Amino acid sequence: MNFTRNILITGGAGFIGSHVVRLFVNKYPEYHIINLDKLTYAGNLTNLKDIESQPNYTFVKADICDFDKMLELFKQYRIDGVIHLAAESHVDRSIKDPFTFAQTNVMGTLTLLQAAKIYWESLSEGYGGKRFYHISTDEVYGALELTHPEGIDSDISAHEVYGNEFFKETTKYNPHSPYSASKAGSDHFVRAFHDTYGMPTVVTNCSNNYGPYQFPEKLIPLFINNIRHRKPLPVYGKGENVRDWLYVVDHARAIDIIFHHGKISSTYNIGGFNEWKNIDIVKVIIKTVDKLLGYPEGYSLDLITYVTDRKGHDLRYAIDSTKLKRELGWEPSLQFEEGIEETVRWYLDNQEWMDNITSREYEKYYEEMYNR
Ligand code: NAD
Ligand code: DAU
Repeated sequence: MNFTRNILITGGAGFIGSHVVRLFVNKYPEYHIINLDKLTYAGNLTNLKDIESQPNYTFVKADICDFDKMLELFKQYRIDGVIHLAAESHVDRSIKDPFTFAQTNVMGTLTLLQAAKIYWESLSEGYGGKRFYHISTDEVYGALELTHPEGIDSDISAHEVYGNEFFKETTKYNPHSPYSASKAGSDHFVRAFHDTYGMPTVVTNCSNNYGPYQFPEKLIPLFINNIRHRKPLPVYGKGENVRDWLYVVDHARAIDIIFHHGKISSTYNIGGFNEWKNIDIVKVIIKTVDKLLGYPEGYSLDLITYVTDRKGHDLRYAIDSTKLKRELGWEPSLQFEEGIEETVRWYLDNQEWMDNITSREYEKYYEEMYNR
């Protein structure tokens, strides 16, 4: 089949990557989408069951740190675009095991950049029509103050705003956790490849995502699952930390727009102006799960358990995404209240998916599907 583009998406069997792969495979039948993933504990091919037989989709199990393999793949599939999401992504794991984060996030990104550089520079058209898009996080900017601890009415949208400052594309990097330090390192390498070699790159920094297919070590799916099993809900510290939540499908939509129309060498912040204190979001989750499971209102509140705080826990993240709206017209499509209800409903309706993960059954899927 003749495809108009060959796009390498890394980390496509993880949470956000699976949404990006699904969107591209369905929306662009004229593109060949190559999903490259090492399938660490966080990679789960059952996330993509619905599109795995599409003629424009190929899965490759590989490690982004394997330079020879990366170069071979660029040549074999004549890759002309990269959307790079593969990473170690959980802050708590990075605190216990920083080396793995430096290896995958910094060295893996550098390995991929170098393979792209060597392959693209070997072509007669060079970097013409190519793009290396790196997906990063708001955590590289550090933490913001909580200058309005109770929240204030905001004219940005209907929710609360907890401080005067927001992360902008010009905010200085100031990462605190090994995870955010490793993502910052990878961002610098991507920009260096543009500035040094002229590689057409783009970087985006997004706030916390929520939605279907998130690994249940992260706050929202973990707490939904714990409520279902009547297990404690471990709230770190006092639950006062603020995160800025975006529905994952809206992140994937932004990635689509930026991959196609973002200005080369630019950075875009992605976020929904949707700040929540952890304890408030936990109460929303409890209320929604209780309602959908038919429990009386407030039934699961006593599962809240305050535990020792995360080391170096960033107090507040809040993204200013006005540049993305102004330049490329992107806006979130879902209001949080709608998105969180849809999300809770999805996890409750897909208990098999959750049980497969918690029992580690999902790890056998690759063997059955691809090693027959
Ligand atoms: P995830 O942990 O759910 O998925 C990561 C995927 O990368 C997994 O499928 C894993 O198998 C794969 N992977 C890990 N190491 C690899 C390696 N060496 N080679 C190949 N594949 C490897 O992560 P996520 O939450 O979907 O995040 C995806 C990207 O988006 C990450 O780069 C993350 O930093 C960034 N991000 C995440 C959020 C969020 O809220 N989750 C917000 C902003 C940015
Ligand atoms: O901001 C973007 C980042 O969001 C991404 O770059 C990361 O990959 C992603 O994991 C996420 O990081 P957080 O650390 O903010 O997400 P997490 O779901 O781990 O935690 C959300 C908040 O909830 C955080 O303040 C810590 C708190 N928390 C988390 C867990 C897992 C708890 O209080 N209890 C918990 O058990």
